[in-house]
Amino acid sequence: MSRPLGVGLLGLGTVGTGVARVLLGKRDALERRIGRPVQITSVLVRDPSKPRGVSLEVPLVTDARAILDDPAVDIVVEVIGGEEPARTLILEAIERGKHVVTANKEVMAKHGPAILAAAAARSVSVAYEASVGGGIPLIGPFQLDLAANEITSVVGIVNGTTNYILTRMTESGASFADALREAQELGYAEPDPTNDVEAWDAAYKLAILASLAFGAPVMPEQVWREGITQVSQRDILYAAELGYRIKLLAIARLVNGQVETRVHPSLVHQGSMLASVDGSFNAVQVEGDLIGSALFYGRGAGSEPTASAVVADLIALGTSAARGSRQAARHAVELRAMSQLQSRYFLRLLTLDRPGVMAAIATVLGDRGISLASVVQKESVVLGDDVPGAEIVLTTHVASEAAVQDAIATLRHMPVVKTVGSLLRVHE
Ligand SMILES: NC(=O)c1ccc[n+]([C@@H]2O[C@H](COP(=O)([O-])OP(=O)(O)OC[C@H]3O[C@@H](n4cnc5c(N)ncnc54)[C@H](OP(=O)(O)O)[C@@H]3O)[C@@H](O)[C@H]2O)c1
Repeated sequence: MSRPLGVGLLGLGTVGTGVARVLLGKRDALERRIGRPVQITSVLVRDPSKPRGVSLEVPLVTDARAILDDPAVDIVVEVIGGEEPARTLILEAIERGKHVVTANKEVMAKHGPAILAAAAARSVSVAYEASVGGGIPLIGPFQLDLAANEITSVVGIVNGTTNYILTRMTESGASFADALREAQELGYAEPDPTNDVEAWDAAYKLAILASLAFGAPVMPEQVWREGITQVSQRDILYAAELGYRIKLLAIARLVNGQVETRVHPSLVHQGSMLASVDGSFNAVQVEGDLIGSALFYGRGAGSEPTASAVVADLIALGTSAARGSRQAARHAVELRAMSQLQSRYFLRLLTLDRPGVMAAIATVLGDRGISLASVVQKESVVLGDDVPGAEIVLTTHVASEAAVQDAIATLRHMPVVKTVGSLLRVHE
């Protein structure tokens, strides 16, 4: 019988436990698939005394060298998360000639090019299907199945936490704070939710997808990023009255030969496919010159869906199927500045309730070439000191981001405008 395929597991949390369960539970099927048994050699954790959701007959170690220096380890699976020590451990595994499977979006988004170059130099593979979209196949399709296409657009809901929060705000009328608390109680949001609600997680995932789709490295800091902390119940309500739902969209588009990358809350038509992606589900809509439009939809996180992607990478590496490391630049891609964006906008303002206010606002917008698609004055509100106020909700036709930002800066300084409540982009 041939030598087992040795797997060293770095991390035994949500994903690591799922991977271990699959490797044990599907032992026979995996052996048939790969042609030799798969064996977990040892597992790196922080605290070996913690109770685990899987019983393993191998040692839990706290020194990574026990795994990295073990000649029986062919593939290192990194499911620790975070930037360090994960990045260093991945590079050390590569240096020792081991293949790597990782679910780590932060490391692959920030250091993907260096890691993939190191892997190429050592003739090993780094596979990272689980880093975006959990169990939804995305990296593989971009690397292989869509390779004949010129990709023109990638638009997705790639963060389950924010999607859950926005779904709850829409369905139950909860405030952002209440929906976040509920998500934390259910384990959908971390105790420190910054990475999710400030859209870092979505930016990492978009950077990875855009790099694959457009054939040149896109770094996370090059992605325009706005989180959902400023989305209010009123935005959700008024957007619904206009026929829209609010979603955190990750968008990468080819515009006049340049690539636009942005993550921000967006209004999407209630009847659109993306509007119906609720709760912890993810979806990514891809447009290519040959395929037209394709939608990838499913569970974007969770122990089993993510293990599905990690183990698929393991099978591919175990059978030497070409998969993983390719992210070579096909051509130089110029990134498009956010100020060049052309979009429709949704604007909510709190103003004094007096004649001429609407005309003054319309003039500020009109002077900058921004034309209004709809204007609704909501019920009167009382501002401080019993001053009568009004809430005004506007949508624009397609306008330039630069012009809209300039208009907002002017509106903020007008005595009749008390607050610019929100500025959201409408996704068409
Ligand atoms: N959770 C998901 O649904 C999901 C989906 C897609 C991708 N991912 C990605 O998968 C990775 C793992 O996520 P997770 O949810 O499984 O994380 P997790 O539940 O927090 O588990 C992390 C594991 O790594 C170990 N660990 C952390 N820091 C360590 C260190 N410095 N040295 C040794 N061991 C360390 C922990 O050990 P202890 O157990 O001893 O604390 C734990 O077993 C992340 O990159 C994440 O972004 C997760």
